Amino acid sequence: MTLTRGGRLEAMDAVMAALNQSVDVDRELWREDIAGSIAHARGLVAAGVLTGAEAAELEAGLRRVAGEIERGELAWDPALEDVHMNVEARLVELVGDAGRKLHTARSRNDQVATDLRLWCRARGRETLAAVRELAVVILDVAEREIDVLMPAYTHLQRGQPSRLSHHLLAWQEGLGRDHGRLCDALARLDECPLGSGAAAGTGFALDREATARALGFGRATRNSLDATASRDFLMELASALAILGVHLSRIGEELVLWSSSEWGFVALSDAFTTSSSMMPQKKNPDVAELVRGKAAVLVGCATTLLVLEKGLAFGYGRDLQEDKRPIFDAFHHALLSVRALSGAIATARFERARLEGALRGGHLVATDVADWLAARGMPFRSAHHVVGALVRRAEEQGVDVSELSAAARAEVHPELGAPEIAAVLDARAAVERRAVVGGPARARVVEALAEARERWGAPSP
Ligand code: ARG
Repeated sequence: MTLTRGGRLEAMDAVMAALNQSVDVDRELWREDIAGSIAHARGLVAAGVLTGAEAAELEAGLRRVAGEIERGELAWDPALEDVHMNVEARLVELVGDAGRKLHTARSRNDQVATDLRLWCRARGRETLAAVRELAVVILDVAEREIDVLMPAYTHLQRGQPSRLSHHLLAWQEGLGRDHGRLCDALARLDECPLGSGAAAGTGFALDREATARALGFGRATRNSLDATASRDFLMELASALAILGVHLSRIGEELVLWSSSEWGFVALSDAFTTSSSMMPQKKNPDVAELVRGKAAVLVGCATTLLVLEKGLAFGYGRDLQEDKRPIFDAFHHALLSVRALSGAIATARFERARLEGALRGGHLVATDVADWLAARGMPFRSAHHVVGALVRRAEEQGVDVSELSAAARAEVHPELGAPEIAAVLDARAAVERRAVVGGPARARVVEALAEARERWGAPSP
């Protein structure tokens, strides 16, 4: 008698066996599988299926199997198909008939759905902690560099004078939403499928709520068909991780640009850079490029999970076996990316002189001059036109708009000759004027930093 063929089927073709097996991938679930089996065994006692002694024997056996796996002693057998059968087969070897009773009132369908939810919960929490850590690293740098100015860009062209900390806080905002999305997904998956059986439940009197609580779930799933055949919790997590990946990729892109000699805004530490096998002078921002690349993998994982279930009728389909690798990969690559960026940003040097130097030469206070005219009563559209002419004049003279003489300004428009305009042309004063909520004025950024620290539960060091 083999566990996987039952009494019904003759031998399996070798190609079918290769297609059929998943233990190479799903052995990752062994901890959750054993925890689920222990909870199920206890539930079987309460349902009057097992004696207390049998359950104790099973539990001791399962703990022994866990020890063997931990020490790398269990020989995983692909002929046993998956993690569930490998664990159970070893258990039967160790404890005999009690082991053969464990699968009463259970199917691999509710078993694997439970394992996956448990696994995702643990990895999800780990990811939340890592995202928080990255956010805190960014907040620390933003606080340290609070007085450093830089341009704010649109179209990757210098737009207005702004503040490095304000830019870093923008990185952190996306991470806050990523954190929220992961929390939402974890709250929704907090239901235990055990007791759903293969599709339509079980006739044994399981106390499903008690088993759910024993495994740390908020409640039992409400519908056995849905519980065994729905994987939207995976789609949701993978989507949240894909969006996170896109955010990390954008930060990565900026680190690639900023660390080039063309920009020179940041110097990454040796610990997070690589050299070239040919060009000895090279110091490459591979950390940022790899994180940018991982986003493609993360989007692929989410896509795989979405497509996997799109044509599946209600009730478990074996297609679902393919759900493991994309969710394992998604968490693996997302966690690695988050941790690598944390290290890279924590150890990077932000080049203050270069950042502030970028404020010169791009007529960055042009908006401020137009605003100043508008505040004195000129319609903004007219002011925009006048300042456009002023910029053209500065370009003709090969200077920044802030460097034109009062006489040259007055030639463009008489109001521009006024002496008070000196304050308008100063980049730092221009940043300070942008004191609306969400703006880059120092006081606003200090406020935003405090709010963010509160939100992340990370008081100022
Ligand atoms: N390895 C399977 C999976 O991951 C376990 C469930 C198998 N169920 C079945 N009816 N063959 O989906």
